[in-house]
Amino acid sequence: VLIIRHRMKSSGKYAKTLEILKELEEKMGTPEAKLRQVADAMSVEMHAGLASEGGSKLKMLISFVDNLPTGDEKGLFYALDLGGTNFRVLRVQLGGKEKRVVKQEFDEVSIPPNLMVGTSDALFDFIASALAKFVATEGEDFHLSPGRQRELGFTFSFPVKQLSIASGTLITWTKGFSIEDAVGEDIVAELSKAIERVGLDMRVAALVNDTIGTLAGGRYNNPDAIAAVILGTGTNAAYVERAQAIPKWHGLLPKSGEMVINMEWGNFRASQLPLTEYDHALDVESLNPGEQIFEKIISGMYLGEIVRRVLLRMAEEAALFGDIVPPKLRTPFILRTPVMSAMHHDSSSDLKVVGTKLKDILEITNTSLKARKVIVEVCDIVASRGARLSAAGILGILKKLGRDVVKDGEKPTSVISLDGGLFEHYTKFRNTMESTLKELLGEVGETIVIEHSNDGSGIGAALLAASHSQYLEVEES
Ligand code: GLC
Repeated sequence: VLIIRHRMKSSGKYAKTLEILKELEEKMGTPEAKLRQVADAMSVEMHAGLASEGGSKLKMLISFVDNLPTGDEKGLFYALDLGGTNFRVLRVQLGGKEKRVVKQEFDEVSIPPNLMVGTSDALFDFIASALAKFVATEGEDFHLSPGRQRELGFTFSFPVKQLSIASGTLITWTKGFSIEDAVGEDIVAELSKAIERVGLDMRVAALVNDTIGTLAGGRYNNPDAIAAVILGTGTNAAYVERAQAIPKWHGLLPKSGEMVINMEWGNFRASQLPLTEYDHALDVESLNPGEQIFEKIISGMYLGEIVRRVLLRMAEEAALFGDIVPPKLRTPFILRTPVMSAMHHDSSSDLKVVGTKLKDILEITNTSLKARKVIVEVCDIVASRGARLSAAGILGILKKLGRDVVKDGEKPTSVISLDGGLFEHYTKFRNTMESTLKELLGEVGETIVIEHSNDGSGIGAALLAASHSQYLEVEES
C-alpha cells in the first residue's frame, strides 16, 4: 500500500508538472494571428515614435547617419564596441573599392561586473586603457597617413539621443548596466576625457548604436541592406527611413533624402504580447522595471532566467526535483541562456547534456528522464516565443516600409543584417525566427534575405568613422 501510495503521490506530482507546462504553453503561445497583431502594433508605434519626441514607447532615435558605406572608404580606422558583457577593440585598414578590407585585427576584453554598476569615470578609464594597450600593438601592416590623428568609431549599444554624428547623451541604461552619473552625459565627451587621461591621441569620429553599425557593415557587403536586427544580450533594430517621413526631424533634409533610425525596439510593448507571471516577476525585480519589455521576453540576457523561474515553480509546487527545492535554483540569473541553449539542443536519447548542466550549474543530481524532458520542453516554449516575436518585429518594419507586399509584380530585394550571440549560437532560436518570418511573409518571403553580418557593428563603426573623418572635407574640396 505504501508503495502504491508513493507512486500515486509521485504521479500526482507529475500531473501537476504537466499542468504547469500546459499553462505555460498556452500563455506563451504565439499563433500566427497574434504575431500579425504584434507586427501591426509595431508599425503603428513606429509611426508614432517618428511623429513626435516621446510619441511612443519606441524612441525611434535619429542616428545622424544619412549615408551608409559605399565601399570607397579608405585609411586606418579604429572601432570600440561596448554594449554587452564584453567589449571589443578593433582596427581595420580600408583600401577603397578595389581592395576593401585590407587587414583587420581585434581584441576582446570582458568587463568586470562591478564596473557595470559603478561610476562613469571608472568604466571609461578601464575602456580607454584597454584601447591604449591595443593601439600600442599596431603593426607595420597598418598605415596612418602622415600628419593624421587616429580616428575611432564608437559603438555604444544603449539608447542615446544623438546631438550630431559624433556626440550624444545617454537616455537610460539597459541590459544590466546601471551607472547613474553617466545618464544625461555626452558619451563621447566621457570617452574622450578618459582617452586623454590615459595619454592616447585619438579622436572619436562617429558614435553609433550596434544596430546602426551592423546596418553599415551589412550595406558595405550588400547594397540591398535596408535594416539590421540585433539578437544578443539585448535586442534592437535599425532601418533606413525616408527623411520626409520623420515629422519630428526639424534639421535640414539630408541630400540623400534618407536617415537611419535606431528604433530601440527592446522597449516595445503592446497588449498583444503574451506575457506571463514569470515575465512580470522578472521585470519587477530587474534593474529597469517597466522598461524593455520586448527585450525581456526575447533576448539572451533574459531567456535563461525565465526558464529558471518556471523550473523553480515546478520544483516548489510539483516537486520536479524531488521533495527538496534545489537551493541554487533560487539564485537569479544562475541559468544563463547558453546553458539553456545547450540543454535545448541535447539530442541524446537519455538527455545526457541536460543531466550534466543540471549537476554542474544547479547542483541537481539524479534527475529522472521525465523531468529532463520537461526541462527541454520549457526551453522550447520560452525560446519559440522569443524567436517568433522577433520575426513579428521584422514584419512590422517591412510593413512600415511597404515591403511586406509584392507591388505590381516587381520584387525588390530587402536584405536584413542580423547579428548577436543569440542569432549566431542558438540554432533553434535562429531557425524558428527564420521559418516564422517565411510563414508570415508568404510569397513576399522570396524577396527578403536574412544575412548574418559577422561583427558588422565593429567594422560598421570603423566605416562610419571613415566616412565622417575630419580629413574628408579637406580631401574632397
Ligand atoms: C539594448 C540597447 C540597444 C541595443 C540592444 C542590442 O536594447 O538599449 O541600444 O541596440 O540592446 O545590443
